[in-house]
Amino acid sequence: MRVATICFLSAILIAIATAVVFAEHGENLKIPNLFPFPDSSGVVETFSSNGSIDLSNPFFQSLGTNGRACVSCHLPDQGWSIAADRVQLRFHLTAGKDPIFRTNDGSNCDHNIDTSTLAGRRQAYSLLTSRGLIRIAIDVPAAAEFEVADVNNPIRVQ
Ligand code: HEC
Repeated sequence: MRVATICFLSAILIAIATAVVFAEHGENLKIPNLFPFPDSSGVVETFSSNGSIDLSNPFFQSLGTNGRACVSCHLPDQGWSIAADRVQLRFHLTAGKDPIFRTNDGSNCDHNIDTSTLAGRRQAYSLLTSRGLIRIAIDVPAAAEFEVADVNNPIRVQ
């Protein structure tokens, strides 16, 4: 990615982050209808029957304890989803500490990983930064009509 592109994308992210921060302080900022967010395919726009998107609504607020808000994974400039290149940018801008980078569903595995170092975080979140993958590990249900005979996980940290 070229430096100019990174600067441009950073500016967008900072603008959104600033808007979200202002919203948390009750400034009631809004994204106007059809506001054009550029991406590699052109522009991404949203139309709301309310006339705009109110950035003070709970979707944009951190509701729990891990720093995340709905907007951590559903972004207006990414079609209300996440794009891997923008996740990569967030990794670079925050050294892998943005709230999207959490081990419960953001890392490749939630065991045998080291998120205390930048290199460890880069490895732990590589599927999120390369493919935008969020996944939640769950046990096989007790009543399952199948059993797991073998697991081959090429991403697993040894
Ligand atoms: C950690 C990232 C993450 C956060 C935070 C998050 N979501 Fe999601 N959300 C996802 C993923 C991933 C999917 C797709 C799940 C699937 O298809 O299996 C999804 C799907 C959805 C969908 C369904 C979209 C569709 O097209 O079917 C809705 C609605 C939704 N989320 C709302 C929310 C709301 C509201 C919040 C905040 C309370 C929230 N999400 C927070 C990751 C997240």
